[in-house]
Amino acid sequence: MSSSVTARYGLQRADSHAQKKESKVNSHVQNRTAAAPARAPQVFWCPDLVSTRDLGPAGVDAVLNLAGIMKARPVDFRKALIGRQMVMFFEKPSLRTRLTFEAGMAGLGGTAMFVDQTHERLDARETLSDVAHNLERWVDLIVLRTFSQQTIEGMAKHACVPVINALSDLEHPCQALADYLTLIERFGDMKNRSVAYVGDGNNVAHSLLLTCACLGSSIRVATPPGYAPDPQIVADAREIADETGAEIVLLNDPHEAVKGADAVYTDAWVSMGQEKEEAERARIFPPYQVNAELMAEAAPHAVFMHCLPAHRGLEVTDEVMDSERSLIFEQAENRLHVQKAILYLLLGGGDRLPARSAHA
Ligand code: CP
Ligand code: NVA
Repeated sequence: MSSSVTARYGLQRADSHAQKKESKVNSHVQNRTAAAPARAPQVFWCPDLVSTRDLGPAGVDAVLNLAGIMKARPVDFRKALIGRQMVMFFEKPSLRTRLTFEAGMAGLGGTAMFVDQTHERLDARETLSDVAHNLERWVDLIVLRTFSQQTIEGMAKHACVPVINALSDLEHPCQALADYLTLIERFGDMKNRSVAYVGDGNNVAHSLLLTCACLGSSIRVATPPGYAPDPQIVADAREIADETGAEIVLLNDPHEAVKGADAVYTDAWVSMGQEKEEAERARIFPPYQVNAELMAEAAPHAVFMHCLPAHRGLEVTDEVMDSERSLIFEQAENRLHVQKAILYLLLGGGDRLPARSAHA
């Protein structure tokens, strides 16, 4: 990014490498994590995007603002990350996340490498720490799609380059950021708007809860008993909500959740890795299907949302998916713009610090 573009948009490059958290090998980057400022930042302080909690309200605001600018003026940013390299390790399949990260990095002038990790867990062949200390010598940023959230946390802890969560069993932060960009484009400020999430209390629900909390918006999550969101995620969302004025409501009744909502959101009943539970979930979840009858209980202007891939005829009907209310492809498009903003903010920093040998 040229300094004129930086100045025009009021952004400053963050020295993200200098802000990385503890790294046993790279002691030169220890203890340099800056505290998040109370207001929207001039300098981005997050070393990684492992959880939406890393961003907090000011970080979510910064990502969404920059994503909007990048979407409107992509040409201004096409050389922003020239010479930067990113590697992606995916333990699970992907269409949208893989391609939007690859297209996003290319659109900023950088290079992306993809490693299909679906045959074994990332740390199966050697320790995560050893993988991290290899990767940090070669690339500027690591994107992970894993089963375990701990794998992403571990990589962020050990590697001295930024790490992005591209979905784990626990969270899908990039998805929820794209979803709220889509909602803001449709409704403007989300403070007086409500999303009804209906279905499984899964990774996507978790990230929606945290992002909603950061934006001071309202979300009602309706799940079958036993499939509620993770209590720690809910507690964290409520703690953020105390600060932002967000409203977080957990329910079992999908009709109560949807009543008067501005957006109705659903996701797969069986997430990647839960295939063995398919038959049991197929018995439990049908009352949570988003169909025309359920949509009719939302506000007259309500939109339908889904992170995709969708299982048509299960969690949502064709009629709703293909209706004029459906924002599914706008959400998918916004993955690109949001992730470009995240890449820029995490990588917009100065030159890489030299990595030190593990044996030094
Ligand atoms: N929504 C989403 O993350 O899609 P993929 O699994 O195709 O990446
Ligand atoms: N909850 C889904 C999201 C897919 C993008 C899964 O984890 O499979």
